[in-house]
Amino acid sequence: SEIINPEAKQKVARQIAQKVKDGDILGVGSGSTVYMALLAIAERLKTEKLNIKAIPTSLEISMFCSKLGIPLTSLYEHTPTWLFDGADEVDPNNWLIKGRGGAMFKEKLLISVSPVSYIIVDDSKMVNQLCTHFPVPVEVFPQALVSVGQKLEELGATSIVLRPAKGKDGPIITENNNLVLDCHFDNVSKTLERDIKSITGVIESGLFIGYPVEIIKA
Ligand code: A5P
Repeated sequence: SEIINPEAKQKVARQIAQKVKDGDILGVGSGSTVYMALLAIAERLKTEKLNIKAIPTSLEISMFCSKLGIPLTSLYEHTPTWLFDGADEVDPNNWLIKGRGGAMFKEKLLISVSPVSYIIVDDSKMVNQLCTHFPVPVEVFPQALVSVGQKLEELGATSIVLRPAKGKDGPIITENNNLVLDCHFDNVSKTLERDIKSITGVIESGLFIGYPVEIIKA
């Protein structure tokens, strides 16, 4: 994706790489900042012969780790020691919107089991209120598309868009074979994440409310 402030992101990428210790299991999120941090980490692996493993949140990140020589593992074998990821929006409570890449299910799964999560963002991501620039992405089991859409409207979604695929006709299919509804809410309340998740047919949303994240600003 577009890199808004490459130098600032480069600096935090190095900051993240400095946190890596021998034996760490790293949860690895998605986005351009994560890519830059992985490059910096791969550099340290080579020069210092560190023994680490990564648990990726998406296919792209898996492939990128492999290309960089960072060994992969999974939640079957390991729990992350810590995790780093990006975000699409961060509000003053450190509530997040994620999921521009459609990988929010795995991203949330990893954040929920990782003792420490660093979220790397630049100034453009800081908002007073969630849903300023980005909608809340909701991953939906395909057959539940219509009923979930109705329930999301009842929860106050003012616009609901089935996310289109890039480079082909039709909707985006997630790595879990589901669809994504991008939903705008005029007001994101504390219970919205739970309310969305409680709809049958919803796999996960990109709302992260009240997670113990540490925001690292570029
Ligand atoms: C992916 O699903 C998102 O949550 C990303 O973390 C987000 O899009 C960040 O990307 P950048 O670091 O490229 O801004």
